[in-house]
Amino acid sequence: MSKTIIISNRLPVQLQISDGGMSAIPSVGGLATGMKSVHDGKNSLWIGWSGLTEEDTPESLVPAIDKALAEQGCAQVSLTKEEVDGFYFGFSNRTIWPLFHYFLEYTEFELSFWETYRQVNQKFADAILAQSGPDDIIWVHDYQLMLVPQMVKEKNPGATIGFFLHIPFPSYEIFRTMPWREEVLQGLLGSDLIGFHTYDYERHFLSSVRRLLSLDVHFNDIYLDNRIIKVDSFPMGIDYKRFHEAAVANDQLKGKERSDLQKKLDDHKASAPGTKLILSIDRLDYSKGIAKRINAFEYFLRKYPEYKEKMRLIILAVPSRSNVPQYMLLKKEIDELVGRINGELSTVNWTPIWYFYRSMPFENLIDLYTSCDIAWLTPLRDGMNLVAKEYIATRTDKTGVLILSEMAGSAYEMNEALLINPNNFEQQADTLKRAFEMPKEEQMARNMFLQKRLERYNVEVWAQEFMSVLKNQKSEEQEQVVT
Ligand code: ADP
Ligand code: G6P
Repeated sequence: MSKTIIISNRLPVQLQISDGGMSAIPSVGGLATGMKSVHDGKNSLWIGWSGLTEEDTPESLVPAIDKALAEQGCAQVSLTKEEVDGFYFGFSNRTIWPLFHYFLEYTEFELSFWETYRQVNQKFADAILAQSGPDDIIWVHDYQLMLVPQMVKEKNPGATIGFFLHIPFPSYEIFRTMPWREEVLQGLLGSDLIGFHTYDYERHFLSSVRRLLSLDVHFNDIYLDNRIIKVDSFPMGIDYKRFHEAAVANDQLKGKERSDLQKKLDDHKASAPGTKLILSIDRLDYSKGIAKRINAFEYFLRKYPEYKEKMRLIILAVPSRSNVPQYMLLKKEIDELVGRINGELSTVNWTPIWYFYRSMPFENLIDLYTSCDIAWLTPLRDGMNLVAKEYIATRTDKTGVLILSEMAGSAYEMNEALLINPNNFEQQADTLKRAFEMPKEEQMARNMFLQKRLERYNVEVWAQEFMSVLKNQKSEEQEQVVT
């Protein structure tokens, strides 16, 4: 029987070694949380990195690790510390991530990073070749593995390969600055189908293919040798039911059953009626615009001082890529900003910002989503932003205001949200005021449309559509080769 091989840098769980034992925690990020709902472990095998380096893994634990992963339908590609440094912290997160998010000033073009990236992509390709059968469908994910499709296709020309990019594909003018631009495009073109979150990313990619490789492109088909590669956009959805049902269950919990965080949020509401909580949740990443958001909040409080003591901003930031210098600097910048603003503006009864720097279990994310009146998400660039969708899915009574950056892929599908430019403080201050004042009926009318769309176009439908276009593409291609 054919199965789907999912392949991404991160597995859905991250392993940790402590006191000689092993533990697993769920991976954070849109790719992992989204694909987790699609991977059932029976008809799919997920290949990826466990988060441990070979040096950190005692040999005696390897069989137990492999067994624990196999029970979840996963298999690991093990990486040395040197490989993690060059491939993950290096080329993936000091070259591609900043470049594709338009942070040219943070982008490092370093030959040794590129070489390790190529070497590690080959490791992933070899793992696929070793673990896949002739009828399997191979689905490669994200910017860490852009060379894998070609590496697999070279050894197994009959393989069915899909690739999905979870981050933006930048405009040609940005992409062309990369020294290894042709190799990256050729790597991707080993796929039969290449998917993006939005039509804009798709257009940028096609334009780069046309201009850098001079290939024939008709609409969204690329002609290469005797192959046709399809390019299309598939905006990723969420597991709507899981979020919505968790929120319904949360509403029904009473007294002691409620989590400590939920009790704290309940106490806040009871002690300060008429005040509102604003929520932001992100990985601690410069692309998310967290520092700008905090500055914009200060601007708002100074422009509209009558909202002091009426609004509180809750920032939940999950630690991310902390070995990369830009992330360390950002952590410091945010710590200082929060400290300064709280120091300057707090009153005896009120602290403007509650800041949590940690990962939170699913139940606590639900507590926050359901308790906050406003979600304020201000990425400077974001492939999709699933947090915006998760917030809306948990609003069981349909109230709540979503303020969303127009630079997020999800903004294309969420027109009923209040869309803002994260660089425009004036507009954001006015939008926060508008969100505070928005009548419940208007909130409900907006969220009704959003919820319907999210429920219909959920992550399962997203995956099914991608798979069905991939299968069709492959069979059309085979027919053309035969005739
Ligand atoms: P990205 O993929 O860039 O991190 P997304 O918004 O698409 O951004 O996805 C982030 C995912 O990570 C969401 O599913 C969200 O629920 C989860 N997440 C974000 N912050 C935390 C946190 N502090 N604790 C646990 N999960 C988090
Ligand atoms: C984004 C990327 C994913 C990545 C995630 C978390 O969602 O698209 O590929 O896994 O961020 O980042 P990390 O570096 O921790 O894997």
